[in-house]
Amino acid sequence: MTVSADIAPDLATEPTAPWWRQAAVYQIYPRSFADSNGDGLGDIPGITAKADYLAELGIDAVWLSPFYPSELADGGYDVADYRNVDPRLGTLADFDDMLAALHARGIKIVVDIVPNHTSDQHEWFQAALAAGRGSAERERYIFREGSGPDGAEPPTDWLSIFGGSAWERVEDGQWYLHNFAREQPDLNWDHPDVHADFLETLRFWSDRGVDGFRIDVAHMLTKDLTEPLPSRDELALIPKDGNHPLIDRDDVHEIYAEWREVFNSYDPPRTAVAEAWVDPARIHLYARPESLGQAFNFDLLESSFDAQQFRAIITENLARAAQSGSSSTWVLSNHDVVRHATRYGIPQQSADAAGEVRHGGEWLLSGGSEDQLDREKGLHRATAATLFLFGLPGSTYLYQGEELGLHEVADIPADERQDPTFFRTNGEEIGRDGCRVPLPWTADGGSFGFGDGGAHLPQPQWFADYAVDREDADADSTLNLYRKALALRHTLQTQEQLEWIETGRDDVLHFARPNGWQIVTNFGTEPFPLPDGDIVLASRSVSDGRLPGEATVWLAPR
Ligand code: GLC
Repeated sequence: MTVSADIAPDLATEPTAPWWRQAAVYQIYPRSFADSNGDGLGDIPGITAKADYLAELGIDAVWLSPFYPSELADGGYDVADYRNVDPRLGTLADFDDMLAALHARGIKIVVDIVPNHTSDQHEWFQAALAAGRGSAERERYIFREGSGPDGAEPPTDWLSIFGGSAWERVEDGQWYLHNFAREQPDLNWDHPDVHADFLETLRFWSDRGVDGFRIDVAHMLTKDLTEPLPSRDELALIPKDGNHPLIDRDDVHEIYAEWREVFNSYDPPRTAVAEAWVDPARIHLYARPESLGQAFNFDLLESSFDAQQFRAIITENLARAAQSGSSSTWVLSNHDVVRHATRYGIPQQSADAAGEVRHGGEWLLSGGSEDQLDREKGLHRATAATLFLFGLPGSTYLYQGEELGLHEVADIPADERQDPTFFRTNGEEIGRDGCRVPLPWTADGGSFGFGDGGAHLPQPQWFADYAVDREDADADSTLNLYRKALALRHTLQTQEQLEWIETGRDDVLHFARPNGWQIVTNFGTEPFPLPDGDIVLASRSVSDGRLPGEATVWLAPR
């Protein structure tokens, strides 16, 4: 029996379908990619120097996490100046050189826009502090008087997403709202200056030739802060249906309609993808062509390596894409989560101290032990999942280092950690540093070829086994598997359709694409007899026509 899913066939079959609909987008976390000047921080010239590496990998676009001036209270997501490059990372001229080098190799560039909050070092926030209560300068942020007899208590008991209070008191006694770290004051999107400034930022980077934008925390910009403000408990009871005071309000799309005019004033139109952690039933609102045009689907980040979970997620997301007219997005790793090779190498049913069952990522983030990690199993599953995803219609977002099969670094000492989550929860949440450790380029040499000045997060000895030079020379390495898969992937991308083929096994998924290729993934451990076809790619070697456990194969018609 076959079940067919048709996705926007008219758009998808057009020979001029926009590039982003089925792109493989590689995320660079610039401070941990490659360091050209030996200061321990990755930089823009470091990326330019690796342009050939990126071209050889076969990706269609690069997404750069923030490289703007920042005090690094949140790894650069605390932006002090939206239209500049952090001097430690280079200059605007370096940015232009990098853009030219990537464009010359056919690679598009997406940059990160952080509109929910600025850094507390941003000139607007500094002016707001200096100008004092009641000033026009404070109107660009969310300042309130405190509660309690002398206003010494925060206005509400709301918690920041990184832990601790969501309010911080300033010298003259007022409080400001920060949904993230205290160095990240939330902007007031009711203020016309805020609208105008972000339009200018979008034009600034578009004029420089940037192809698209990744929109940080896209679901939290607009807020209804009508007094009296609800308590934390009251807030938790308010449905997130478009009218919640803080999250996923319908009126946020008025902002994106303004941005859409800017995007569409360029040829080709600039693209955008929303980072929106919202009710899955509302994600399509962000992906509409009149809003941001595409939205991340994070469902796989929270899923185990399980055939039925994967199938349900794929089916649901293809339907969501059809609903918005956008294409699906697939994500297994990014700079905010435990690397997928590690998530899949931790026993799937780990229980925490309270006996709660958690998936591998949650387990490690909340202090689970690296001793439980089976590196080889994790990597087999990770490459199987990746090849499964590369076979799907839609666009895939990859995170730097996953092409090396890199694992999470779980044992970073407390005094070398950087993530504000770690500090704001007193170490209860270990945070996201483990996936942000600088990449190993060479098996030997200081900081594994990252740069001459050490690495800003400690690299473990086992990084040598995953170094680019070692994997480059090994025909069977994860890197060479990614290269082959990304090159072959273009062959698959004629139409955005897939057809499920029933396998008679709960732990095996099988689908066909319109070009006649078939993709089979064995999520279990029992070998699976392969259907007819020529093997074009396999994550583990196939013998006697049987697909081993925890592996994916791509088959072409004979
Ligand atoms: C997004 C980013 C994350 C950052 C947060 C605050 O979730 O992906 O890294 O900490 O926004 O900007």
